[in-house]
Amino acid sequence: MKLWGGRFEAGPAALFERYSGSLHFDKKLFEADVIGSKAFANALESVGILTVDERNRIHAAFDEMLAEAASPGYFDADDEDIHTFVIRKLGESVGELSEKIHTGRSRNEQVAADFRHWMKGTIRAVQARLESLMGSLLRLAEREFGALLPGYTHLRRAQAVLFSHYLLAYFEMFHRDWERLQQAYERTDVSPYGCGALAGSGFPFDRDAMAADLGFSGVAANSLDAVSDRDFALDFLYAASVAMLHASRMAEDWILYSSEEFGFLEMGDEVTTGSSLMPQKRNPDALELLRGKTGRVCGNLQSLMMTLKGLPMSYNRDLQEDKEGVFDTAAQAADSLEVLTLCVDTARIRPEAMERAAEEGWVSAAALAEMLSRSGVSFHRAHQIVGGIVLASVKQGKKPAEWTLDELREFAPELDERARAALVPRNALENHRLPGGTASDSVRDAIAAAKSRLERLEQASSEQEE
Ligand code: ARG
Repeated sequence: MKLWGGRFEAGPAALFERYSGSLHFDKKLFEADVIGSKAFANALESVGILTVDERNRIHAAFDEMLAEAASPGYFDADDEDIHTFVIRKLGESVGELSEKIHTGRSRNEQVAADFRHWMKGTIRAVQARLESLMGSLLRLAEREFGALLPGYTHLRRAQAVLFSHYLLAYFEMFHRDWERLQQAYERTDVSPYGCGALAGSGFPFDRDAMAADLGFSGVAANSLDAVSDRDFALDFLYAASVAMLHASRMAEDWILYSSEEFGFLEMGDEVTTGSSLMPQKRNPDALELLRGKTGRVCGNLQSLMMTLKGLPMSYNRDLQEDKEGVFDTAAQAADSLEVLTLCVDTARIRPEAMERAAEEGWVSAAALAEMLSRSGVSFHRAHQIVGGIVLASVKQGKKPAEWTLDELREFAPELDERARAALVPRNALENHRLPGGTASDSVRDAIAAAKSRLERLEQASSEQEE
């Protein structure tokens, strides 16, 4: 079925019908479309186009449709789009009365309203996945509190940090991602209803009441903008892309950390696969897929930006291309975050391997130089002295702990018994006591703070749902 046709002599080519039809993907907006149409029926009743009885019959038919939609093959139809499908279904149930439902309404405002409505629920779902992930990171940070990780820069051992401190770094990223999604939610939470095809409506609808009926917090201020704006979708695509980038960075870390070369952790059987040829293999496919899907999700953002870049005011059919990428991003991001949570929950951490790597490396070199500079040696000279010790170590194949104080003093007579203590990675770590640093007390405080921050997000989410 089509919602137009009077002004045409011939119908569209079959090829073009296939090309332009969107039901196969915009059926995802079914529920939003029906809920929106129920609200619109209320609006039509309030301006006298529908009687109360007619509105009630329409509502009952819509409720029945919502209940039936799960049945197999429900969406096997050749309607142009989901909006057409819903009106045809309404007609099958209430007959001619259905012809009134589109009075003073355009699919341009309708599709924008449906998309926003759907997106609000989707953003909440992604936020909920982030909350679970943050919760798992915090649980692991508490469980493995004390495990010492060689922190890296340039993927070279740099300075010792607590493994929990490392986990909290990802907590921060996902926390910001949640906030970015929240901002996207607030910009999405605006009703286009009452904007018509582009110019507003000649019927005396109460736009605020329609918005409230649909659960929107406000109304779009300009009708032209309302039917052609998709930057709320860009906001979501951007926020989801950044969350995926963060998840992908963590995936990359854990692919490395779980390798034989690092051995810092072991991925659970739940998220690894074997090889069809090499019996010994245990591959981190879940994390690799996540890393791969990140490219695709970032591509969806780029794709919608390109779709929007040259659009003349106001609605253009190009806008139908806004949906598939957004649907894909929503599904991939939600699944990826859930998979990463499962990876965190099922990993076995190997603190002894982390600590060994830290002890073999020179992660305390800076601590030794700083110690020297505290006893009056300029930092530049201290840096030179410790560099000399490291060079000698490398040449002699000697670990930091193997240097005696007498040997160290040959490099700098200023060194005393505290030098050997400074070379112990854990001591160096405990020196970094500032807020945001990696000393045990700082990290304990940070975990406690992170827990209450997460509780606040969860609280905000549940209030939004009400
Ligand atoms: N299916 C269209 C979309 O997704 C909505 C229909 C509006 N069509 C139109 N020719 N004005 O944007």
